[in-house]
Amino acid sequence: SESSTIVVSTEGRVGRIQLNRPKALNALNQQLMEEVVSAAVTFDSDPGVGAILLLGSDKAFAAGADIKEMAQQDYPEMYAADWFRRWEDLAQLRTPIVAAVKGYALGGGCELAMMADVIVAGESATFGQPEINLGVIPGMGGSQRLTRSVGKAKAMDMVLTGRHIGADEAERIGLVSRVVPDDQATSTAEEVAELIATKSKPAAQMAKEAVAASFETTLQQGLRLERRLFHSLFALADQAEGMSAFAEKRGPEWRHR
Ligand code: HXC
Repeated sequence: SESSTIVVSTEGRVGRIQLNRPKALNALNQQLMEEVVSAAVTFDSDPGVGAILLLGSDKAFAAGADIKEMAQQDYPEMYAADWFRRWEDLAQLRTPIVAAVKGYALGGGCELAMMADVIVAGESATFGQPEINLGVIPGMGGSQRLTRSVGKAKAMDMVLTGRHIGADEAERIGLVSRVVPDDQATSTAEEVAELIATKSKPAAQMAKEAVAASFETTLQQGLRLERRLFHSLFALADQAEGMSAFAEKRGPEWRHR
């Protein structure tokens, strides 16, 4: 196996994971999956980390699952390994995840980006689910998260034709949060992650939980969960502090960061 497929660091309260297989356009092999998810799980349980930043390279965020590695697999091996299941551990984390996407985010790369909570795209970003051209279909959430994000019309278009879309279309259809010039994508994503990491951590985690629940629940169940989470925040010092700080026209000093 390669030495390491990622570069991990912490800056202030932001945990940073950079995909680092640039010659393979950050193709997501099994080693990279394990390393990214392990690093993210570690950040998630670190009280000093308030947001996770996920970065690729300039030419590619990630050009998909590693086709050369997958080509070796047969059905019993894929089934036994429950191939791609480990990525769900990333999607289930409570810490907000911000991704900066420059260049290709195809197949598993697009699906990985969609596991982030906020996607900042550079103008060069290219999204697509081209698996159909390999005789397969999305396997890391593309048929589910993409459809929930952009709706049936655009998801069917992308998944059935495999066509790539640019950053502007991605923003128009609701796949990404913001589009910025390429040379500002990383710094903007850093700023977003740093800003989220300044908030009350349980409030940010519950905000993520509530929005994420809308993908899985009925409206009534989701609204009830939202109210219960809202009520529960009144058990924490940060609610009193945030509201006092507003009345006193000063910035809040969160206890729970
Ligand atoms: C393994 C990959 C790769 C991938 C690129 N590379 N994508 N290796 N898996 N997904 C490798 C190339 O083989 C090449 O290695 C090097 O990265 C540079 O890529 P090039 O093709 O030479 O670059 P370029 O001509 O600029 O084309 C870029 C590209 C093209 C358009 C992104 O690489 C491409 O189409 N890649 C595959 C995109 C794709 O189909 N993704 C979905 C994967 S399936 P060498 O050694 O030759 O230099 C997927 C499935 C998920 O994600 C679940 C369902 C199974």
